[in-house]
Amino acid sequence: MISKLNIDSTAVLISKSLSDFEQEINSTFNSFSRVFLLMDANTHLHCFPEFQKVFPSNIKIEPIVIPAGEQSKSLNQAEKIWQQLFEANATKRDCLIALGGGVVSDVGGFVAALYKRGMKYFVFPTSLMAMTDAALGGKTGVDFLQIKNSIGVFYASEKIFIATDFLKTLSEREYNNGLAEIYKHAIIYDRSLWDDLKSDVNEFQMLQKSIAVKASVVNNDYYEKGERKILNFGHTIGHALESYALTNNIDLLHGEAIATGMIVEAELAFNAGLLSQEDKSEIMNVLSNKFGKPMFAKVDFNLMTEFLLQDKKNTHQICFSLPTEIGKCEFNQFFSLEDIKKAASSYIEWL
Ligand code: GLY
Repeated sequence: MISKLNIDSTAVLISKSLSDFEQEINSTFNSFSRVFLLMDANTHLHCFPEFQKVFPSNIKIEPIVIPAGEQSKSLNQAEKIWQQLFEANATKRDCLIALGGGVVSDVGGFVAALYKRGMKYFVFPTSLMAMTDAALGGKTGVDFLQIKNSIGVFYASEKIFIATDFLKTLSEREYNNGLAEIYKHAIIYDRSLWDDLKSDVNEFQMLQKSIAVKASVVNNDYYEKGERKILNFGHTIGHALESYALTNNIDLLHGEAIATGMIVEAELAFNAGLLSQEDKSEIMNVLSNKFGKPMFAKVDFNLMTEFLLQDKKNTHQICFSLPTEIGKCEFNQFFSLEDIKKAASSYIEWL
């Protein structure tokens, strides 16, 4: 069974098996003469064979394969993809499809948005991170000067085909990477999803609920003038940690960074009197049991502050979105470096 919802102009289709989409794929792509299929080395190996089984054989697929990993979210990689599109003379009668996780969908959307001022773009997310967050809501971009997502543009894909059978290709670490965003959706917006996550939840329902949170928030505020900012819970600290990790060659996934970010930011919310002791402790315990207690204690806070100060969300102080109870969140909460240092120290003591 296929479930459908819309995020702005994008149709999001969710099903357990890629083969469920066969008819929809036929009707969607039969007007294109060629499709450019962007993959990374992993999805080329593990997901492309499945994709070929359901894709109409009369439409020519031009594969574009990029290296796996965050390093591919760069202007340099985008330029290489544009070069391939130009060399193959891609036109408005063609489209770009991203088959991959968040890196592939972020760089793919960015390339599609700017190629000849816009090429039709579709996504088949293959990671939990891309299915529940990265591929949804039109944010595309690359990292620049080691700052995450610092060059980017909103660009809506035409359709997103979410087939959960791709999740079987993920390692536990990759799976948990996406799970962190699902926990975030629960904390900021959906107490019932939080309760599901604490019990033995059915994966498909969990994903549907999580996508519904993202859809609802983005549909209220596509260009992030207000409410969409709540999706940044955990991300102010999380992005600074990721930039720190990138600069210091530390292996850290986005979800791992934001799991730590959510714990430190829950502490900050508690210190500011926004969040009760009970909800703070529940958030900290559930997240640290699920995601471990990663590298934060080893981070030199003074070096990390440089990245906190560069965050796109800042104005005069450092900007956060913080939970006020499990299932509710407030955006535009500003704090000084001293406040943040205090929350970070309490977290390190608690570790
Ligand atoms: N990942 C946060 C957002 O889409 O706004």
